[in-house]
Amino acid sequence: MAGTGITICGMGSYLPDNFVDNNAYAQIVDTSDEWIRPRTGIVTRPIANGETTWRMGAAAGRRALERAGVDPKEVDLILVTSVTPDFLTPSMSCVIQQELGCPDAMCIDANCACTGFVYGLDMARRYLYSGDVDTVLLISTEMLSRITNYADRSTCVLFGDGAGAAVVRRGEGLYGAHLGADGTGYGLMFCRLPLPASPFTHNPPQPDEIYGRPEPDEQLVMAGHEVYKFAVKAMPQAVEKACAKAGLAPSELKWVVPHQANIRIIQTAMKNLGLPMEQAWVSIDHTGNMSSATIPIALDEMVQAGALQRGDKVVMVGFGAGLTYGAAVIEW
Ligand code: ACO
Repeated sequence: MAGTGITICGMGSYLPDNFVDNNAYAQIVDTSDEWIRPRTGIVTRPIANGETTWRMGAAAGRRALERAGVDPKEVDLILVTSVTPDFLTPSMSCVIQQELGCPDAMCIDANCACTGFVYGLDMARRYLYSGDVDTVLLISTEMLSRITNYADRSTCVLFGDGAGAAVVRRGEGLYGAHLGADGTGYGLMFCRLPLPASPFTHNPPQPDEIYGRPEPDEQLVMAGHEVYKFAVKAMPQAVEKACAKAGLAPSELKWVVPHQANIRIIQTAMKNLGLPMEQAWVSIDHTGNMSSATIPIALDEMVQAGALQRGDKVVMVGFGAGLTYGAAVIEW
């Protein structure tokens, strides 16, 4: 019988080697390791130092292909997720295509904020079952330092830079996903482009159109507490719904791979799911929040650590700007 699931044939990741610890942030804003560590779980995070978003993505993608033993020429679709691309156009997937040498691949970029890898996995599966795609290279790559406001202590300490990638094919195992969004919360986390200023624009939109107050362009603005409240509800609900679609009870999961935004969010979500913290993979201490790259980097760590056995039921679950949320259950 044909399967309906997916197989992750290879994982790869790339982290800059420029790690910045909490004490370094105390030099630039009014904060401390004593505040950051217990409130967020973050100890250090890599910050790009010469890398670009697409180059980090290409490096992660190359590793994933090598580990999968897949020739770049076999890739039918490159799907890149990011909120911090190097270009508005062309797409980073096109730039990565030429770098890796995947001449027959379709190229798509998607922005689903921190839920990008989960959305991407579901899109990959849909393409794989459409009939004419056999191999997907899914890459989530982020340079949050590009849009971080380093004068805002409530956000600047949270973010890191990096990329994760997966080679995805059709598989026999079970699969279930639940994805969604609540656009009424779009103003809780955003990064705005400059207002239009053509010689023919006489009536530009007002700068405080979003969230009712003026905010700096091209920098991330976040109402952290509101996002926190959303996350601790949305994550367990998404996991439960994804499990139901896969015909599984959450108690049958071996691993939860959550978006790494705050250790307290992960702890509360696990408690609400009735699962012990030992079943959550935690990398936030050394990665910080890397938006959509966070989940595949964590998954790659798990593979490299030998934490995943064939047949393990694993759920990936994220939330982020939009507000988006989503969970996908796979059988390893
Ligand atoms: N150092 C010292 N004090 C700080 C810092 C800091 N780095 N940051 C905030 N504070 C202060 C605040 O100014 C405030 O002080 P006040 O009471 O004098 O006004 C106090 O600490 C409490 O602030 P809160 O915002 O209520 O602190 P909270 O416990 O909620 O923690 C945090 C803030 C860590 C941001 C938390 O809300 C959080 O993790 N939110 C979710 C973030 C997230 O998940 N983002 C999602 C994805 S990002 C993306 O999509 C790209």
